[in-house]
Parts: sequence; structure tokens; C-alpha cells
Amino acid sequence: MGYTLCIIKPDAVSKGYTGKIMDDCIQAGFVIHGIRKVQLTEDQAKSFYKVHEHKPFFRPLIEFMTSGPSVALVLEKEDAVDAFRDIIGKTDAREAEEGSIRHKYGEDNRRNAVHGSDSPENAKKEIAFFFANIDLI
Ligand code: TYD
Repeated sequence: MGYTLCIIKPDAVSKGYTGKIMDDCIQAGFVIHGIRKVQLTEDQAKSFYKVHEHKPFFRPLIEFMTSGPSVALVLEKEDAVDAFRDIIGKTDAREAEEGSIRHKYGEDNRRNAVHGSDSPENAKKEIAFFFANIDLI
């Protein structure tokens, strides 16, 4: 079985979409292996998105990700990383396929409702960023 990290981002949490997004994950065949509500600090958000630190959107991205609570999920499914990227849709919610999570719950290319890991290696690192072994079923 494979694992991926999902973050339900502050826009979706504040609009009350947490339950709907978790249900979409379950309906798509994912098992929720761990769950944690967090409010990222500036340092945590910068560390999580370090790969983007020289991009022009980095500062507003950090401001957005620290603006309110997020919900981190560890999702389990065969080929979890690719399977989850398939159901979330394109980065820009305005371009995401109809029926995808970002299309349904996101707004644009920053307020896009969810994060999904982009490789199994990064999934492992991102899961360790949010969860201790004892938190995982
Ligand atoms: P990226 O890794 O390109 O996309 P994805 O989340 O689909 O893997 O970008 C990471 C996050 O950075 C993205 O979810 C939202 C933010 N972002 C912006 O705020 N503006 C942008 O123009 C882009 C490309 C991303």
C-alpha cells in the first residue's frame, strides 16, 4: 500500500469543507491513516514549502498557509500519491477538472483547498513533518 500527505488548507477549513473533503477521499477509496489539525507557524510553513522559497508567490503563500488552521491527513491507497493528485486536479482551481477537489472547493492558484504530495519520497518526508509514528494507525 502507498501513502500520501494531504493538507486541507486554511481556505477550505475556514469555509467548513473539511468533512466534505474527507468524505471525498473516503469515497475515492482512500483510508485515513492519520489526522491532525494544525496552525502552521511562519517557520513551519517556510520549511514545508522551502522548494518554492525563490518563487515570486512564496511570501503570499506563507501568509495564506499561516492564516488559520489546516487539517493534515495521511491517506492510504494503492499508488496513493498519483491517485490523490488525480482526484485533486490542477494546481489552479480555476483550471482544475470539473468534479475534482480543487474545482469544487478551491478558488485560484493559491487558495486551492488542498495540498497533495508529488512523489512517494516527498510523501514520506511530509508525513514525518506532521506526524509521529504513534499518530499513525
Ligand atoms: P506547486 O508545487 O506548483 O503545485 P501543487 O500544490 O499542485 O503541487 O505549488 C505549491 C503551492 O504553491 C500551490 O499549491 C499553491 C502555491 N502557488 C501559488 O500561490 N501561486 C502560484 O502561481 C503557484 C504555481 C503555486
